Amino acid sequence: MSELLRLEALNAYYGKSHILHDVSLTVGKGEIVALLGLNGAGKTTTMRCILGLMRLRSGAVAYEGKDITGWPAYRVARLGIGYVPEGRRMFRDLTTLENLQLAENGRPGEWSIARVIEQLPKLGELRSRKAGRLSGGEQEMLSIGRALATNPTLLLVDEPSQGLAPMIVEDVYRILAEMKARGVSILLVEQNALLALKFADRAYVMDGGRIVYAGDAHSLREDTDRIRTLMGLTDVPA
Ligand SMILES: Nc1ncnc2c1ncn2[C@@H]1O[C@H](COP(=O)(O)OP(=O)(O)OP(=O)(O)O)[C@@H](O)[C@H]1O
Ligand SMILES: [Mg+2]
Repeated sequence: MSELLRLEALNAYYGKSHILHDVSLTVGKGEIVALLGLNGAGKTTTMRCILGLMRLRSGAVAYEGKDITGWPAYRVARLGIGYVPEGRRMFRDLTTLENLQLAENGRPGEWSIARVIEQLPKLGELRSRKAGRLSGGEQEMLSIGRALATNPTLLLVDEPSQGLAPMIVEDVYRILAEMKARGVSILLVEQNALLALKFADRAYVMDGGRIVYAGDAHSLREDTDRIRTLMGLTDVPA
């Protein structure tokens, strides 16, 4: 599989705190890669490094073979790297449709607003409703819709299932699988390891700002002892 994204030994700090320690990972074209780990492991920080939202102390980021280390966020976004942030940040006083329109950035591609609404029909029904009045699940849909409207080649999705009812979580993952089927590569951060591993091709586990596991998702999913050890999970069925 050809490589889309490569992180090479990233080190990053918040102030004097050394947060990321030699984080290396790759995402191949058309892959879903899960990035797992407990609270505070460094998953969101890793995404911020990819997006150009965080300064690196050392290490390199390459996209489609091009060195993009240190690029500002607006240039990274133009490469076609979309972001569905943790906590579904959006413009609460704007309508669903206005939120989608602001996300459209003129990058030509498959995902016009009409196409996004075709894939996520619920957003069509809610087009005139203020984002702040949407339910958690509807906001997650809008957040994904906004990322799609940017016509991403790579989508970074941070904890999409957080706080959602199981049925809505299913919807969200069905959409992510559909994105993958259309050739979008996905780096997926999830607290729910078993769920993410069901959809992912490969997985990395982080702990204390370090990558402590890299391998294929299926064999990790089968190895619940290992998941327990790696992630300290207590709710993994025996
Ligand atoms: N703005 C910040 N200033 C200082 N420290 C921070 C900041 N954001 C995160 N950290 C610290 O960096 C570490 C990694 O945080 P990060 O948000 O990347 O973890 P995470 O794996 O995304 O966790 P979660 O599952 O809770 O979202 C944590 O120890 C956290 O306390
Ligand atoms: Mg996080």
